[in-house]
Amino acid sequence: MIERVKKYLEEVNSFSSTDALTIEEFRVSYSGKKGILNTLFAAFREVPIEQKKAFGQELNILKNAVSEKIKELQSKLKSTGGKSSISDPTRTPFPIQTGNRHPLSIVKNRIIDIFSQIGFTISEGPEIEDDWHNFTALNLPEHHPARDMQDTFFIQTDPDILLRTHTSSVQVRYMEKNQPPIRTISPGRVFRNEAISSRSHCIFHQIEGLYIAKDVSFSDLKQTLKYFTESLFGNSKIRLRPSYFPFTEPSAEVDIYWGLETEVDYRITKGTGWLEIMGCGMVDPNVLKNCGIDPDEYSGFAFGMGIERIAMLIYQISDIRLFFENDVRFLKQFKGTL
Ligand code: PHE
Repeated sequence: MIERVKKYLEEVNSFSSTDALTIEEFRVSYSGKKGILNTLFAAFREVPIEQKKAFGQELNILKNAVSEKIKELQSKLKSTGGKSSISDPTRTPFPIQTGNRHPLSIVKNRIIDIFSQIGFTISEGPEIEDDWHNFTALNLPEHHPARDMQDTFFIQTDPDILLRTHTSSVQVRYMEKNQPPIRTISPGRVFRNEAISSRSHCIFHQIEGLYIAKDVSFSDLKQTLKYFTESLFGNSKIRLRPSYFPFTEPSAEVDIYWGLETEVDYRITKGTGWLEIMGCGMVDPNVLKNCGIDPDEYSGFAFGMGIERIAMLIYQISDIRLFFENDVRFLKQFKGTL
């Protein structure tokens, strides 16, 4: 009998593991209700009187050894962070919250998709620009009054450097490096020194487009815009209103027919049913010249739109600031892609 207890003692002393499950099994096999210790204590009764003392002593040694061992192994496990304890497959998992794209990214990607399908490439450029690419090359020489159309953030120490007010600057860079045929769209962040309200924000996002080739006409522009608005909004009606931009001639603003039935907020179309969504026009020959393209050989069109504006329309959002607050309760609503 005593021999058996001694054998257990050896076993306990030599036992070691870093696995939580194995340690727990060890604990149960010795100290559990039906474990070895309890079985041995129960057997104590049958031990002949003259052996009781020695047996009892051995048993106590074993009992202490077991509890020492368990303490030792468990504290080791804690200090290693219990990394090996994740092997319990029955553990309840945490519900994993999957993220989703920002509504502006969803709309931007959709617009990029639509233009990619008709061969437009994506071009990008710097947000900190020089005067040439943001203004002068675009037929806006110094002191031109139309510069005030876009209130600009200048870098105080160098009036030649500014935060781009539109991504037309990217198109200038693209024309400087590439000869026609050119078909490109420029998505990006732009900056204007405006009072922030529910309709305007100092930072917003644009997608501008540029198409230059031989014999491009205004009807190509109109057809492209029709394709675009139909792809994005479904079967929609658009109209082009004459307008002015220094870099295009003639210029127009594009309105989409939004209707009055769905007008939840009178400010959306101001009671007309029409909503302006972008500016466009035929690229001014001066701009082509400035960028090293021969206006006698090539012509083209350009257009530009604010992504926030389009997203507000699609999702019926009445305050532009919601896009920038990053309130998860707002953002969570835009699952998947458009
Ligand atoms: N760059 C103009 C803006 O930011 C938009 C535009 C682009 C208009 C191209 C006409 C042609 O307001």
